[in-house]
Amino acid sequence: MRRPLFCFPILFSTICSASNVLILHEKRDAIPAGFFLSRSAPSETMLDLRMALKQSDTAGLERALHAVSTPGNPAYGKHLTSEEVAAYTKPSEESFDVATSWLKQRKLLHKAVSHAGDWLQFSISVEKANEYFGANFSLFTHTDTGSEIVRTLEYSLPAELTNHIKVLHPTLSFSPPNVIPKISLSKRHHLASRQAPDPTDCTIFQNPACLQAKYNIPTTSATQSSNMITVTGFQFNNPSVFLTQSFLNFMRPDKTFNVTFGTRYVAGASNSTSEGNSEVSLDMEYVMGLATDVPVTFLGIGPATATPADFPTLLLEGFGLLLNDTNPPQVVSTSYGADESFYSPAISESVCNLFMQLGARGVSLLFSSGDGGVQTSSSTGVGDNTATCKAFGPTFPSGCPWVTSVGATRNVVEIAAFLSSGGFSNVFPAPSYQAADTAAYVAQLGSTYRGMYNASGRGFPDVSALGLDFQIRDHRFGWQTDSGTSASTPVFASVISLINDRLTAAGKSPLGFLNPFLYSAAGRAALNDITEGSNPGCNTTGFAAGAGWDPVTGLGSPNFPKLLAAAMTAAV
Ligand SMILES: *[C@@H]1O[C@H](CO)[C@@H](O)[C@H](O)[C@H]1NC(C)=O
Ligand SMILES: *[C@@H]1O[C@H](CO)[C@@H](O)[C@H](O)[C@H]1NC(C)=O
Ligand SMILES: *[C@@H]1O[C@H](CO)[C@@H](O)[C@H](O)[C@H]1NC(C)=O
Ligand SMILES: *[C@@H]1O[C@H](CO)[C@@H](O)[C@H](O)[C@H]1NC(C)=O
Ligand SMILES: *[C@@H]1O[C@H](CO)[C@@H](O)[C@H](O)[C@H]1NC(C)=O
Ligand SMILES: *[C@@H]1O[C@H](CO)[C@@H](O)[C@H](O)[C@H]1NC(C)=O
Repeated sequence: MRRPLFCFPILFSTICSASNVLILHEKRDAIPAGFFLSRSAPSETMLDLRMALKQSDTAGLERALHAVSTPGNPAYGKHLTSEEVAAYTKPSEESFDVATSWLKQRKLLHKAVSHAGDWLQFSISVEKANEYFGANFSLFTHTDTGSEIVRTLEYSLPAELTNHIKVLHPTLSFSPPNVIPKISLSKRHHLASRQAPDPTDCTIFQNPACLQAKYNIPTTSATQSSNMITVTGFQFNNPSVFLTQSFLNFMRPDKTFNVTFGTRYVAGASNSTSEGNSEVSLDMEYVMGLATDVPVTFLGIGPATATPADFPTLLLEGFGLLLNDTNPPQVVSTSYGADESFYSPAISESVCNLFMQLGARGVSLLFSSGDGGVQTSSSTGVGDNTATCKAFGPTFPSGCPWVTSVGATRNVVEIAAFLSSGGFSNVFPAPSYQAADTAAYVAQLGSTYRGMYNASGRGFPDVSALGLDFQIRDHRFGWQTDSGTSASTPVFASVISLINDRLTAAGKSPLGFLNPFLYSAAGRAALNDITEGSNPGCNTTGFAAGAGWDPVTGLGSPNFPKLLAAAMTAAV
């Protein structure tokens, strides 16, 4: 308990005295690397805050997720409806009443911003936010861009709210402003010309034909129109029909394509921004080139303007939209991420909780693990590879146990790609489906890197796929190659989407949250275990790939026919 405030002039003095007490809710010891404190925020600056109310049964939702996602469970594949999920996530009436009357008493107009009513949004001045939440909202400058964001290093909650509120946001979270975290493009070759798709020569470049040959991915068309895949893009990215069509015309001569995809925009995104940046071109070209004729939708999240954008908020808005769909896409491929240390544990958990809800609904969420090896992933260039580097930098949201994190491999005989981010979360403990694997890896490490990583944390990535030297066509350089876990993710997502197509055709449920299946004996036997290579960083050689799961290539890369057979067997 700390910092008593003056009494608020409200009805009963008992409430008044209860309102006096603030209880510290979250605090950060240091400003994240890449930002520095400028000065106090002007008191009249308006903040757009949201609060997550405690859900009525988060543990029950987690049990339900395990049940519908674990092969052999009687509920396997029996995914939940939006209403069934909301029954777990809606706050208790008491929590809702306490929070909304607290806001009303302070004349803070609020609205519910989630279907279940567990998120409330409101505007408040810096002056009032400092007063009500014992905060010190200040201007922090992003070193690389000079952009400023308003954040606080700690906040408290009035005593009467602490049992009802999970997190207040954005408070302690520091997204690089204007530069939405993006994982990719760690290596770029400007090609004078494109190389024809020749599956017998995949020594230098990757293209759909090489990947189809490598992973035995069928070239035949998907048949189920209800089976969908969504590709997300944050801020400046919009896909180009022309570039995608031109890529497929050249790279898939076996088939005539007529490129069409759906578009959805949320949180200020629009179709008016420029088309065909590298990231969105890479993602759309490989999803359309590999998940042949699966209906694709592009989901644009966040404004292209210089508005400081907050990554957790954009994740909440973008994935919250999907959660409310009657028929959400069965697979979502996301090649963006950031350093876990930018975000407070409470907001990371709340975003991860949204992913759990989508998993319960039967959505497979695939995220890039990052391109910074063991060090850091961010596109801010913040990364310490000096001899004084003290700790590895896990990435977000790969540390969330309810997503499938995809790392990168390279070479004809696959080994780990040096850039493949991997490690152990400092926020999320190892989940049950994985705990034996992380424990075995930690045991085998012995004292190596002790203190530089979190031995009890959720390990990532879960799986991997080739990620270097993908030929793409984008608006800036025409034909070129890009590398990164950004490339690996649409490959793995496409494989899952084609498996779902076959499952749907057979009258079975889609895979949904993948990890309990992938970590099962049948799942891991259907993956190519990658046992060589490592992900250097932080002045070390990084984690080494080895037999079984490892924090650089996960369980391994896909083998379509084996995965399909395992999925068919699991879905009895
Ligand atoms: C609040 O932050 C400002 C800088 O933004 C600092 O000068 C001031 O001392 C802080 N106040 C408290 C009470 O911590
Ligand atoms: C969710 O969907 C329902 C029904 O389609 C709609 O009424 C509601 O406004 C949506 N909620 C949100 C938060 O989008
Ligand atoms: C391609 O698809 C669009 C939209 O579905 C359609 O209008 C167009 O005629 C098609 N073009 C060809 C060549 O099939
Ligand atoms: C953007 O959306 C508007 C309205 O739906 C549409 O008229 C326009 O053609 C779209 N532009 C692009 C580039 O897709
Ligand atoms: C290690 O991870 C656990 C969650 O698994 C977390 O509670 C703990 O604070 C982390 N330790 C450090 C030093 O970050
Ligand atoms: C670690 O840093 C030292 C001094 O900068 C350097 O000599 C050494 O090569 C580095 N080791 C690795 C594995 O990066």
